[in-house]
Amino acid sequence: RTGGSNEAKRRAGEAAADRVTDGEVVGLGTGSTAAHAIRALGRAVDSGLDIRGVPTSFQSRELAREVGIPLTTLDEATPDVAIDGADEVAGFDLVKGGGAAHAREKYVASAADRLLVVADDSKLTDALAGPVPVEFLPDARAPVATAIREAGGEPTLRAAERKDGPVVTDNGNLVFDCAFEAIDPEPLAATLSAIPGVVEHGLFVGLADAVFVGRADGVERRAP
Ligand code: A5P
Repeated sequence: RTGGSNEAKRRAGEAAADRVTDGEVVGLGTGSTAAHAIRALGRAVDSGLDIRGVPTSFQSRELAREVGIPLTTLDEATPDVAIDGADEVAGFDLVKGGGAAHAREKYVASAADRLLVVADDSKLTDALAGPVPVEFLPDARAPVATAIREAGGEPTLRAAERKDGPVVTDNGNLVFDCAFEAIDPEPLAATLSAIPGVVEHGLFVGLADAVFVGRADGVERRAP
């Protein structure tokens, strides 16, 4: 998920940030591409743009603070727009959650009037292939794993890179990365959402309003 050129990510992030207008509440996505959008928004705030941000993770909150974006919460305001990255983009369907932030990312994006996806062209694919991240309550690990296998998936508990043991999300939960032979996004999303103990999965179906694809030499805006 760290693949793709930083320059292409920067172009995508900055192009989406350019679409934000005065007075808007902005969902601030997570990951290296969304971080470029957050930095660009911080520069725009310095130049007088009046916005408030709703962060989707510890990481995006820290960065937003650092670059001076005033913050708010979903209790106080409804986002006009959310800007977020993706791990895979097939048309306007996404796999997200490479940074384990997909639960907050999804409810912030769903609450927003529009979701602008920012991705370098290495994320584009004809069909979503996964693995699909699934955040779940730690106590429910065994039954959630069984239900995912029954749905045709093979769950692997996500291990932390610089700690012994699993990744613990910003919400205190664990993550399975689930391999599937083939992904039919809409029915699989419904199946995963219906598993008791699952907090959220990383399939984003029918949420994206535009995709900003960053390339080495420019950025392309795709809209339905
Ligand atoms: C965070 O959990 C993810 O959904 C990210 O938005 C996604 O992994 C994209 O990250 P990069 O922009 O760093 O590739």
